[in-house]
Amino acid sequence: MLQLPKVIGHRGAAAYAPENTLASFQEARRRGATWVEIDVKLTADGVPIVMHDDSLKRTTGVDRLVAETPRADLPAEVPTFEQAIACFAELGLGCNVEIKPCEGREVETAHLTVAALRRWWPASLPQPLLSSFKDASLAAAREAAPEFVRAILLGEIGKDWRSRADAVGAAGVNTNGAKLTAPRAVEIRKAGFALSVYTINDGDVARALVGMGVDCIITDAPDVILAALN
Ligand code: G3P
Ligand code: MG
Repeated sequence: MLQLPKVIGHRGAAAYAPENTLASFQEARRRGATWVEIDVKLTADGVPIVMHDDSLKRTTGVDRLVAETPRADLPAEVPTFEQAIACFAELGLGCNVEIKPCEGREVETAHLTVAALRRWWPASLPQPLLSSFKDASLAAAREAAPEFVRAILLGEIGKDWRSRADAVGAAGVNTNGAKLTAPRAVEIRKAGFALSVYTINDGDVARALVGMGVDCIITDAPDVILAALN
C-alpha cells in the first residue's frame, strides 16, 4: 500500500505563514512536517505555479485572474512550481501535489505539472503524491506519467468512489475529514487504498480520525497535529 507520512502541512503551514509560499514551506519544516500539500495551476503562458485560487486577489491583493496573468507579471510572493521544488530539495520535504486547474485547463495543467516533476523533482526526495478534484487531470497525469502515484480527491465520498479511483489508477483517497464516516474509512482501507483527510487543525479530531483508520492528516498546523498524535 502507498506509504504516506502521518501529517502533511496544508499549503505549507497555512496557520502560521502565507499559504503556498516558500515561507510557508519553511515554516512547515520548522514545525516538524516532513511533507507539504500545495496547489498547482497555470499562468496565462503555461507556467505551473503554486496558487490555490483562480484569482490572485485574496492572497496577493492583485485583482487579476491567474489564467490571464503571464509569468512575468506574477507577484513576487507567488512561487513557480520549479521554485517550490527547489525549496523542497533544500528542506528535504516531500509533497502532495494537488493539480488545481482553472476551468478548461484540466489536461494541460496535468501535463505541464508532471513534465515539471520529471524535469526537476530530485531523486533524494520521496516520490510525490499527485491528487486532484478533477478526474480528467488525474487521467491525463496517468497517461503522460504513470510513474507518479495518484490519489482521488473527494469533497464527499459517494457510492462511486471505487470506480472513480480505479478509473484513474489511484492508490489513495484524499477526502474532507469533517464528512468522513467510520464505515467509509474501513471500506477504503480494506480495499487497499491509503486514506488522507483535509483540513484537520484540532488534535482530538485528528486522533479520532486516526482511530478510524485514517493514514494521513493534512493540516494547517503540523506542530499541533504531530503533538496530538505522538
Ligand atoms: O488537497 C487537500 C486540500 O487542499 C483540498 O482542498 O481547497 O484546500 O485545495 P483545498
Ligand atoms: Mg489543496
